[in-house]
Amino acid sequence: MYFGGKEMAKFILSAFADEASPKVEEQLDALKNNKIELIEPRNIDGKNISELSVDEAKQLKEKLDEAGIKVSSIGSYYGKIFINEDFDPHFEAFKNTVEVAKILGTKYIRMFSFYIPEGENADDYKDEVLRRVKAMAEYSFERGVLCCHENEKGIYGDVPERCLALAQALGEKLGCIFDPANYLQCGADTWEGFKLLEKYITYMHIKDVRTSDGAVVPAGCGDGRVEDILRALDSNTDRVFILTVEPHLKVFEGLDKLETDDETANNMGKFVYPDNFTSFKAACDAIHSVIEKVQPVRYGIIGVGNMGTSHIKMNVDGKHKEMRITAVADINPERLKAAKEMLPYVNTYGTAKELIDSGDCDAVIIATPHYFHPPIAQYAFSKGVNVLTEKPAGVYTKQVREMNEAAKRSGLAFGIMYNQRTNCVYRKMREMVQSGEYGEIRRVNWIITDWYRTQAYYNSGGWRATWEGEGGGVLLNQCPHNLDLWQWICGMPVKIQATCHEGKWHNIEVEDDVTIYAEYANGATGVFVTSTGDCPGTNRFEITLDGGKLVCENNELKFYKLNGRVSEHCKTAEQGFGRLEGEWINVETDGRNIQHSEVVNKFTGKLLRGTELTANGEEGINGLSISNAAHLSSWLGKPVEIPVDEDLYYEMLQEKIKNSTFKKTVNETVQGDMSSTFGS
Ligand SMILES: NC(=O)c1ccc[n+]([C@@H]2O[C@H](COP(=O)([O-])OP(=O)(O)OC[C@H]3O[C@@H](n4cnc5c(N)ncnc54)[C@H](O)[C@@H]3O)[C@@H](O)[C@H]2O)c1
Repeated sequence: MYFGGKEMAKFILSAFADEASPKVEEQLDALKNNKIELIEPRNIDGKNISELSVDEAKQLKEKLDEAGIKVSSIGSYYGKIFINEDFDPHFEAFKNTVEVAKILGTKYIRMFSFYIPEGENADDYKDEVLRRVKAMAEYSFERGVLCCHENEKGIYGDVPERCLALAQALGEKLGCIFDPANYLQCGADTWEGFKLLEKYITYMHIKDVRTSDGAVVPAGCGDGRVEDILRALDSNTDRVFILTVEPHLKVFEGLDKLETDDETANNMGKFVYPDNFTSFKAACDAIHSVIEKVQPVRYGIIGVGNMGTSHIKMNVDGKHKEMRITAVADINPERLKAAKEMLPYVNTYGTAKELIDSGDCDAVIIATPHYFHPPIAQYAFSKGVNVLTEKPAGVYTKQVREMNEAAKRSGLAFGIMYNQRTNCVYRKMREMVQSGEYGEIRRVNWIITDWYRTQAYYNSGGWRATWEGEGGGVLLNQCPHNLDLWQWICGMPVKIQATCHEGKWHNIEVEDDVTIYAEYANGATGVFVTSTGDCPGTNRFEITLDGGKLVCENNELKFYKLNGRVSEHCKTAEQGFGRLEGEWINVETDGRNIQHSEVVNKFTGKLLRGTELTANGEEGINGLSISNAAHLSSWLGKPVEIPVDEDLYYEMLQEKIKNSTFKKTVNETVQGDMSSTFGS
């Protein structure tokens, strides 16, 4: 994070706004009008940034702050002198610009690697180039500013191979700016160059060239492979990239006065503009439309509390691919303001309905309190919008069944945020159990008590831990992942008996301590113990199979592999105390555990290519059925069968809501970084 701690999107746009106007105020307006978040200052009110004094830099910073625009990099001209010119005065001036960079709050200074005298071989000057670049790079690096080299025709670093030599020689002390147009102007192949330099690129310079006549054209309209390069950056990395637009388009001031059939106008070709604002806009529109092609899926986030914010953070940290967040909705205006601080140009709505009706989104992620998941999803389906809902699917299965039916009728994509299914240990457990290689399940034990929460957590939201607002406690909030994994790996039980202690460890009206006993169709049994009151808690998941025992604890998976089958051995062994031999094996996994961003990326993949989801939305009803059955059993004081009696559950839940006398103390907070709360 380079801009005062603010987050950035995967592609964050910057521009040389001096191409719109020499006046700084007009530059700032041009940026905002074209949805550009950052500036790479070069000429400010007629003065080059490299000549700006420290005092002038302070005045500029005030104007930028007022406009809410941050500096991506200093658009300096350092390194644009001949290699045989005197370096010392150049270096002295550079030192001042390092101070200017610090005042303007940027970590980068753009620079070049010196003009080579005409007709001479650039490689003959390699040592002197390296000496000078090293002097500048080391000086600024020690002061927390990174020199970033831009390729340019006529300088040492004009072709990708020599830029690579510089990058390799200077290592972390030199950044790399990739300018496709300048490579094309040197006859280099931009795609080959990109492959050579991909891992060194600090930020992208957005300029394109039509090689047939050498004209500079808007990004994507030339031969610079801008779209392919951005697509590769989007999908191959989890990093954020600044894209700095340098329009360099042709402006012909009399253009608008020419007749459309005027020969002059036609001869000029289509990329000529009547004034600088128009050419600047054309360059910005072009990069926006390239990004729209590279990241075609438009997402809306509904509910920007803890989890919704966390999804936005993952997006602005570059974790999502082929998608953009175009809109957010929340009933709380403060949350919309917070979202805009992370994504300045996102559209905001006060209700889910308005967002869905806006047409801004192809898909929504629903991250509101659970009761609202089904009605919002159903409305989205009715309007042709795809849905990725947070867990749990809803609060009661009757409501979720209706949502599933609406999803089916719509034919749209429907996913659920069961991010823990991406964890390699759980995927491996499922694979081993479902393969049947080790026989049937005999017993399952999951002690999952490492969901410790304090009273302050429960006080942090009015809806939390109430029958009316949340519809339950640990079973509805923390355990939906575990209940889902339990059924995903072991299948659905047929009968449940449970004791749910309400408000045992906290001042809440819902359950915070639960023991579930489950029976399976094959006679196997299971016990699931959970609580938000234990500290330290335990997360130990054991599955006893006929041919061995799987134990998952502390994110490590072990298997006791038996040399036979217990069912067989028990019947046939001649000694009463004899045991079936076996050995402990550390189970190897693929090590992947990406969580939420993988669920989102797979959902995007489903929309674009029809590939598999992490979890189909319809499957949300399974874990919820176990949860509803556990509540019902505890309320009735007897075992209940699955499928659960939906109407009875609904009636009893309404009774709980009606009879509630609990008064909540609320102290609303939003936790931005949720990673420590996701459980293991
Ligand atoms: N997958 C996970 O790891 C994970 C982790 C935490 C929470 N969650 C789930 O995310 C959901 C939200 O939980 P949270 O902790 O972020 O809650 P929260 O209270 O922090 O946020 C909910 C937000 O939704 C807004 N909201 C409420 N009703 C709304 C409506 N009708 N329309 C639009 N906005 C509305 C609220 O103003 C609030 O900003 C829950 O269902 C929870 O189970 C999932």
